[in-house]
Amino acid sequence: MTDRYAVIGNPIEHSRSPQIHAAFARQTGQDIKYDRILGDPDDLESDIAGFFADGGFGLNVTVPFKERAGRACDVLSDRARAAGAANTLTMHDGLLHGDNTDGVGLVRDLLVNYGFVFADKQVLLLGAGGAVRGVLRPLLETGAAQLVIANRTAAKASALAQEAGVTGCGLDQLAGQSFDLIINGTAAGLDAEVPAIPDDCLKPGGWTYDMFYGRGPTAFVTWGHAHGAVQALDGLGMLVEQAAESFHIWRGVRPKTAAIIDELRNA
Ligand code: ATR
Repeated sequence: MTDRYAVIGNPIEHSRSPQIHAAFARQTGQDIKYDRILGDPDDLESDIAGFFADGGFGLNVTVPFKERAGRACDVLSDRARAAGAANTLTMHDGLLHGDNTDGVGLVRDLLVNYGFVFADKQVLLLGAGGAVRGVLRPLLETGAAQLVIANRTAAKASALAQEAGVTGCGLDQLAGQSFDLIINGTAAGLDAEVPAIPDDCLKPGGWTYDMFYGRGPTAFVTWGHAHGAVQALDGLGMLVEQAAESFHIWRGVRPKTAAIIDELRNA
């Protein structure tokens, strides 16, 4: 029997998750169907409950519903609890389980796909919203020497950093500091902007990573290239890796990701 999955968000028509999961299913010989659901902001909880009541097997959750989905769960994984959000839902024995695969997706893209070595590295994470909270815990577990959270509104960075046991500051307090890896988790790119960070805050040989992606290079990828980044990556690999982690949770097999990342990149 074909197991049914879906991604729920709003908007949802541009989600690439169905294409990604279909590719994973072909590759691993799994019989699944994966749809898009336009979530109702007024009644997301009913949409989720309805999907599982109809026999749905697993649900991915995307913007802007990840935090609400987390609150709707009966059981949360440690990483979903730390993220304050869930992007991977499964029903077991009548209980809704929530996990969060975003952070591990980011780390696997850097570590496995690009070979970034976190040990001894100083990492700067830009932003203090849901996107940053979602990846904080897996980043802390990489063994990086230092993690600094910097945000336009300093108080938000400080609060999040305090919770995580790291340093937090305003973007304007970064002068004189430099990092091996700068990760952009702000929404600045939506306006084709880059967070106001000092020109010299990327170390020679450093990398940049934008958690978002677009048709062409994002503003932060362009910033990375202009400031000497050895690698200036966008979040397409993270998107595919978080999907692979969800697929693994649901199907017990880990798909290979390189071919589908290439396919999406060239689409
Ligand atoms: P998300 O859940 O996607 O992270 P969010 O919670 O609204 O969205 O957070 C957006 C983040 O992007 C915040 O850290 C925001 O900074 P503020 O807390 O100061 O608002 C950041 N952000 C948005 N536009 C920005 C810009 N032009 N420059 C720098 N940071 C920006």
